[in-house]
Amino acid sequence: MRKKITIVGAGNVGATCAHCLAQKEIGEIVLLDIVEGLAAGKALDLFESSPVSGFDVRFAGTCDYRDTEGSDVVIITSGLPRKPGMSRDELLKANTQIVAEVTKNVIDNSIDPFLIVVSNPLDAMTYVAGKVSELSKNHVMGMAGVLDTARYRSFIAEALNVSVNDISAVLLGGHGDDMVPLPRYTCVAGIPLTELMDEQQIRAIVERTRKGGIEIVNLLKTGSAYYAPAAAAAEMAEAILKDKKRLLPCCAWCDLEYGVGGGFVGVPVILGSEGVERVIELELTEQEKQLFDTSVAHVKELTEQVGTIL
Ligand code: LAC
Repeated sequence: MRKKITIVGAGNVGATCAHCLAQKEIGEIVLLDIVEGLAAGKALDLFESSPVSGFDVRFAGTCDYRDTEGSDVVIITSGLPRKPGMSRDELLKANTQIVAEVTKNVIDNSIDPFLIVVSNPLDAMTYVAGKVSELSKNHVMGMAGVLDTARYRSFIAEALNVSVNDISAVLLGGHGDDMVPLPRYTCVAGIPLTELMDEQQIRAIVERTRKGGIEIVNLLKTGSAYYAPAAAAAEMAEAILKDKKRLLPCCAWCDLEYGVGGGFVGVPVILGSEGVERVIELELTEQEKQLFDTSVAHVKELTEQVGTIL
């Protein structure tokens, strides 16, 4: 049977994600937005591009959650984006309410979908979707690690003047300035990054990766990044719907894993037809562990704030 993917929010991230998914031809795409006509217009425009682009996909654009009925995967992009000078955390209050309402509407219309959250602050919003939906934990995840490693991989490829295709990397922690890229687990076609770059160069790239989101916000001035976040969310949906068993860094529920003790945070996972099928635990050095713990503590603070809003 044809798969159904709903994208909530037809702004830049949502619409671009619909385009990425259309190119992958993995299912029918429903774009939903509360702004009258926005999702319908973008869905129609995407459909009309298909004879030229060469993809063969059904689209619907709607304001009505009933049209999302029976979705296999729902990507939540709703919420306010950052403006220059703002941290992701400043979005917490407004976006908690938005993501909670969206999640409720989604769950009222689909049984057991996979939820991929893109709204910020990412880890806290994934918690909101998990709590409100009451879905099993493997069904709820946040997109951030794929985006953050994509940035990290791009910067490495540029610095070494090699193809982005040859960089593989992993990253831990929350989607914030204290995320933890792991140079020890970063390779260029199997060659450890540490053999190809000195410590200072690596440190500069890690720093730029941590601030990758705000770099784009400061350039755009009116919103945040969307091509890379959209591509990342589409890659996660594809991994699930094609049961690819991809090993990708995602925001996922961790209990005993990494000693998190219950919380959604960025870790490497296997993504397949069961959603988050398992968390991959890496050996960390004392320093990596400290950085990860700091990031987790920050995510937990935000999650506690969510508790006072919901
Ligand atoms: C970014 C936003 C989406 O990192 O968090 O660009």
